[in-house]
Amino acid sequence: MNIILLGPPGAGKGTQAAHICEKFNIPQVSTGDMLRAAVNTGTSIGKEAKKTIDAGNLVSDEIIIALVKERIESPDCKNGYLLDGFPRTITQANALKQQGITIDYIVEVKVPDDDIVVRMSGRRVHLPSGRTYHITFNPPIEKGKDNLTGENLIQRVDDDENIVRGRLKIYHKQTEPLVKYYRDDAKAAFSDSKFIAISGVGSLDEVKDRITSALIS
Ligand code: AP5
Repeated sequence: MNIILLGPPGAGKGTQAAHICEKFNIPQVSTGDMLRAAVNTGTSIGKEAKKTIDAGNLVSDEIIIALVKERIESPDCKNGYLLDGFPRTITQANALKQQGITIDYIVEVKVPDDDIVVRMSGRRVHLPSGRTYHITFNPPIEKGKDNLTGENLIQRVDDDENIVRGRLKIYHKQTEPLVKYYRDDAKAAFSDSKFIAISGVGSLDEVKDRITSALIS
């Protein structure tokens, strides 16, 4: 099962990816998590990408394509994977297609911009695992602590409202065209792949049920 999860920043991709991956027993390949891990461990990619990520801009296609190519060749991706946050540009989508990979489902999670700004302002993240919470909509058991490890949660620098609005602009300009690309362009689409558009508005469980029933129908 290979799945692409598309949607604006803060649509709930990471939150829902965790459920989908558990259900289908596949790993989550999140380019955002991979980049943040590289920043934290101080690799050359991390050093190069930090400013770009903090400012809410896109990291170069070249870096991202190389990261994903290496990741999906790992043994744990042998039976499938969920791509979260990749592809994000037409160039990245073309690179994926050129690798001769088959994708079973492309799931678009749709959420209006104003809802996203509210979600991001309350988001808290456990950096080592990528687990995500919301102070109101999905609070941790203990305030400010990760449910599994008890470690501190942080607020991402790029969740500042102005940066979020900038990220949304970039999404509409550079990533949203991928919706049309996968939905309407027969040459771009993977043979046998299914495009599903889901409303990401509602409770976490409602969104989860919508995605799960679309994937198993
Ligand atoms: P990345 O980490 O991928 O950020 P993103 O796509 O902007 O997505 P987010 O992680 O911000 O949001 P999400 O959709 O996963 O939402 P979440 O589940 O957390 O990328 C970060 C940066 O890395 C980019 O800006 C770029 O610089 C770089 N990068 C990454 N990939 C790249 C690529 N391919 N090319 C170039 N550069 C790349 O949910 C958000 C909040 O809402 C949480 O608090 C959650 O609890 C809450 N929530 C979730 N669902 C609901 C609900 N139904 N109702 C209410 N609240 C909800």
